[in-house]
Amino acid sequence: MDHRMDRRTFTQSLSALALASSASLSSSALQVAASVVAPQGSTDDTRAERQTARTTVKTPLRLGLIGAGSRGQELTRSFLRVPGVKVTAAADVYPLRFEQLNKVCGYEVAKHAEYSALLDRNDLDAIVVATPLGLHAEHVLAALKSRRPVYGEKTMAYTIEQARQIVTEVTAGKQIFQVGHQYRYSPWIRAAMARVQAGEIGDVTHVLAYWNRNSSWRRPVPDPSLERLINWRLYHQWSLGLIAELGSHHMDIANWAMGSYPVAAQASGSICCYHDGRETDDNVQVILSYPAGRRMVFTSMTDNAKMGDQLWLYGTKGSLNLTLQDATFFYEPRKVEVDKVVKTGEGHEPAVTSASYNPANEMPYRGPGSPVQVKDGEDPTTAATRAFVHCVRTGDRPIADEHVGLGSALAVVSANEARVTKREVEIAIV
Ligand SMILES: NC(=O)c1ccc[n+]([C@@H]2O[C@H](COP(=O)([O-])OP(=O)(O)OC[C@H]3O[C@@H](n4cnc5c(N)ncnc54)[C@H](O)[C@@H]3O)[C@@H](O)[C@H]2O)c1
Repeated sequence: MDHRMDRRTFTQSLSALALASSASLSSSALQVAASVVAPQGSTDDTRAERQTARTTVKTPLRLGLIGAGSRGQELTRSFLRVPGVKVTAAADVYPLRFEQLNKVCGYEVAKHAEYSALLDRNDLDAIVVATPLGLHAEHVLAALKSRRPVYGEKTMAYTIEQARQIVTEVTAGKQIFQVGHQYRYSPWIRAAMARVQAGEIGDVTHVLAYWNRNSSWRRPVPDPSLERLINWRLYHQWSLGLIAELGSHHMDIANWAMGSYPVAAQASGSICCYHDGRETDDNVQVILSYPAGRRMVFTSMTDNAKMGDQLWLYGTKGSLNLTLQDATFFYEPRKVEVDKVVKTGEGHEPAVTSASYNPANEMPYRGPGSPVQVKDGEDPTTAATRAFVHCVRTGDRPIADEHVGLGSALAVVSANEARVTKREVEIAIV
């Protein structure tokens, strides 16, 4: 079990903490910061390469799936690409899902209306949970108690207490748990993050993330009684809205880049476009604070897709752009000096250099970046599911483990609390 940060990131975080007194952290936030120089951020590339390597091993591995909806079916497609893997049984409360799943598998999967009946079977080697967020903890904890390895979708849990329970259960039972933060397995993101951690763009002080769409998120419902089951993302009962559904991925990458859990969250949101009875906001804005005054800003809107899904990591020497398909570095050409003391005819006096007045210095860089080259740009979910199978077969510890899951759950749940209460929420790591 290896959660250490690499040496450089660890040293950076320590100096960041030393600097924090001059930054905008309260003393309690500083205490929190001290306790979060923790296991986020290790690239651990050898382990990732080992886990995601293509395999010819065909040892039978029988999966049980709880929640056979859209993501459950997508995960099934990915798992079935791994030799030896079979989805043996599924549990769902919506019978139509079993027909859809059978089509994906090309054979009949045993079906259960109750997930407990699925867990009672003795022919399953691992459990996959892909139910709505508000049900994750119930299903993941029950699956862990059945003593099988678990792949649980993100966000790991609906509350921080539930997320901690999952960490406690996994730790106590020395079990294998992998959270659905598949971007930890993305070849181009891993390659880029390794270079960031080696210092290529200096100290990363800001992460700016957009996940914008032009789509209502509303799914067609065959019968009004199924509205909340099918459109669960739009209701508080099981959903934390865009912050969880989209933001959790970006917040996980921010945790990775910052080498730390966040220490505080601010957030806002509204319904500006889809006045259709939904409860969750159709646009959200989140600011996460990290030790030493570093920040992550996440925004999501659902009526304009111009910015799409992208993250920018801003460091003192350059920037990194991450998308669903690629990663590109940009470098800071120079530091622009303003208010320089210059020598005039009458002696030395403060004067403003032309830098302040030259718009060219402030124009966005429009030239090409330096793309990250990877041998194999495969879909991150395919890599993540193959890695989970490797861990189940070998006992290796997943890269996206329960601590990774806890980190993004802390960010998501705290940001949502800040959105609801309209105040900054400090994030306590105990
Ligand atoms: N990692 C990713 O990129 C990614 C992408 C999409 C979705 N997800 C996550 O996957 C999860 C599922 O999302 P989705 O889009 O598949 O939703 P979905 O509504 O399509 O599927 C959820 C399924 O759970 C079933 N379900 C509800 N209550 C149940 C219960 N008590 N017992 C058993 N089954 C029950 C529903 O009937 C449905 O079939 C969510 O947490 C979501 O955030 C992750």
